[in-house]
Amino acid sequence: MFAFVTISKIFVMDLIMETPVIPNVTGLNELVYEPAEDSFLLLDALEQDLVKSFEESGSDDVLNILEVGCGSGIVSTALAKSEKLLNGRLPCVFALDVNPNACLLTNKTGEANQVATSSLHTILLDGRFCSRNPFRFQFDLVICNPPYVPILAGENTEDENSGLLQQSWDGGPDGNTFIIPFLSNVRHLLNNNGSLYLLLSSWNNPEMLVQDVANPNGLTGVQVIKRTAGRERLSVWKFQKKGLSSE
Ligand SMILES: C[S@@+](CC[C@H](N)C(=O)[O-])C[C@H]1O[C@@H](n2cnc3c(N)ncnc32)[C@H](O)[C@@H]1O
Repeated sequence: MFAFVTISKIFVMDLIMETPVIPNVTGLNELVYEPAEDSFLLLDALEQDLVKSFEESGSDDVLNILEVGCGSGIVSTALAKSEKLLNGRLPCVFALDVNPNACLLTNKTGEANQVATSSLHTILLDGRFCSRNPFRFQFDLVICNPPYVPILAGENTEDENSGLLQQSWDGGPDGNTFIIPFLSNVRHLLNNNGSLYLLLSSWNNPEMLVQDVANPNGLTGVQVIKRTAGRERLSVWKFQKKGLSSE
């Protein structure tokens, strides 16, 4: 009995996704979104769902991953270190952000967590341009914790640095200014068996996004995990191309 408990404990611990350490870089951290409940819920969803998705698909293939809006790099770094979760598949993570400070901090986070430089690549790019897929290939996984907070126009800041930081959460008047065009076009980034993991808040009306945006654009959407955080309910949704998913 003891041996069984010990072995099963080791097995469970083996599958746990490490939460990366974010290094303290003078003058940089305060210019980048600090990981919060949404970031950690996204990590929980990935840990829980990727084990399920890859437990039966052992392969030596590289797994191409794109994170849109990498911020501190907490999620990209965790994924770049997650070979065990991906059943031996080698993660190659592209971490994209519109904020140059986020790209810098993501590189530092990768270094601080001993991620191989071949596993994590940062890209300074506005995610809204991804609709035309500037990459030469499609991805197995796309991850996004988007700017989703409803902010009225008058509440915008004018200062350049705080303006860049505000882009981390500013989802426009209804919270969906980034999310709707992104979700409408993300299928171009996904390969046929690919999945998008998207963090949403109750403010974004996730059910409406699935029905009115994802479905007409050829995607199915299911909720993977949810949590109440203060006045909002956060959830992570998995989207796949219609007719090809194992939903
Ligand atoms: C809520 S933060 C999430 C950061 C990180 N992924 C996390 O979970 O902690 C959103 C990130 O998206 C980035 N972002 C906002 N608008 C963007 C856009 N149009 N293109 C690319 N990145 C964008 C912000 O700079 C910010 O780093």
